[in-house]
Amino acid sequence: MSNRITSLFGIKYPVISGGMVWCSGWRLASAVSNAGGLGLIGAGSMHPDTLREHIQKCKAATDKPFGVNVPLMYPEIDTIMDIIISEGVKIVFTSAGNPKLWTKKLQDNGIIVAHVVSSSKFALKCEEAGVNAVVAEGFEAGGHNGREETSTMVLIPQVRKGLSIPLIAAGGIATGEGMLAAFALGAEGIQMGTRFALTQESSASNEFKELCINLKEGDTMLSLKKLSPTRLVKNEFYNSVQTAEDRGASTDEMRELLGRGRSKKGIFEGNLVEGELEIGQISSLIDDLPSAGDVVRSVIAEYNIRLENFISEKPLF
Ligand SMILES: Cc1cc2nc3c(=O)[nH]c(=O)nc-3n(C[C@H](O)[C@H](O)[C@H](O)COP(=O)(O)O)c2cc1C
Repeated sequence: MSNRITSLFGIKYPVISGGMVWCSGWRLASAVSNAGGLGLIGAGSMHPDTLREHIQKCKAATDKPFGVNVPLMYPEIDTIMDIIISEGVKIVFTSAGNPKLWTKKLQDNGIIVAHVVSSSKFALKCEEAGVNAVVAEGFEAGGHNGREETSTMVLIPQVRKGLSIPLIAAGGIATGEGMLAAFALGAEGIQMGTRFALTQESSASNEFKELCINLKEGDTMLSLKKLSPTRLVKNEFYNSVQTAEDRGASTDEMRELLGRGRSKKGIFEGNLVEGELEIGQISSLIDDLPSAGDVVRSVIAEYNIRLENFISEKPLF
């Protein structure tokens, strides 16, 4: 398999593990890269020194390409970018901010830049900003999300219409079938979060992983719409957010309710009651905790089988 995404990043398969707070450290990133995908370290939950350590450990654990995801609202963004450049990282996926801010500086330092968006309007802004690839993420996705609630099925063909640079689909993809569907809509690569959060190498707590592999359809919802829309498991924290939103709580009240460190508490420390539990809709389809390498291999095997089936079947209509 070779296409614009495999060539751009120098990888075997166009399968990317999304940067994820409290899940994607060097273990997950290097496991995905070693299996032929592109592993990303999630800088969003790391202090600068922690990020440096993870980059160094990732370099020692794989000789394959890997990258770092940087949410651009990060308070110590200058330090984070300096570390990325000085450690010789070759690939950066930016998110949650304006791609114009950092793309040129990163590219001037020999770094390939992709940016994550949730609408076709912002996808075009990425192209204007000169990024090398766009990740279009539908509202099925785990983590922070677009206000417009556009689903992957609608978003990918919309983005594809106006974009000339390579397109990566994200949101609700966890299988080879999902990958094939995304490719049929015009994507050239997939970024999976939820599937990789629920693997052996993910640094999420066992409590979080066990809960997530038992979720059913409808157990996650888009929440925190006033602050920053985020898909969450419906636990007690989620209920308190909904109650506050229903009574019209102000943004400041919501900010106070959210407090600090909620996602660490939920995802990393396994406090399933008070924590903010970020995971995607597709968790309802997942009931196991394989290794990340097995995920890459099974997604590709399934993609190939499904594609073969489609090609060999006679047209029905
Ligand atoms: C627990 C969790 C944390 C996430 N944290 C981040 C993050 O720090 N930065 C980011 O750009 N995306 C983040 N995401 C989104 C993923 O990178 C990915 O794009 C998304 O999960 C894809 O949708 P899926 O969950 O349906 O696979 C997160 C997702 C999850 C599930």
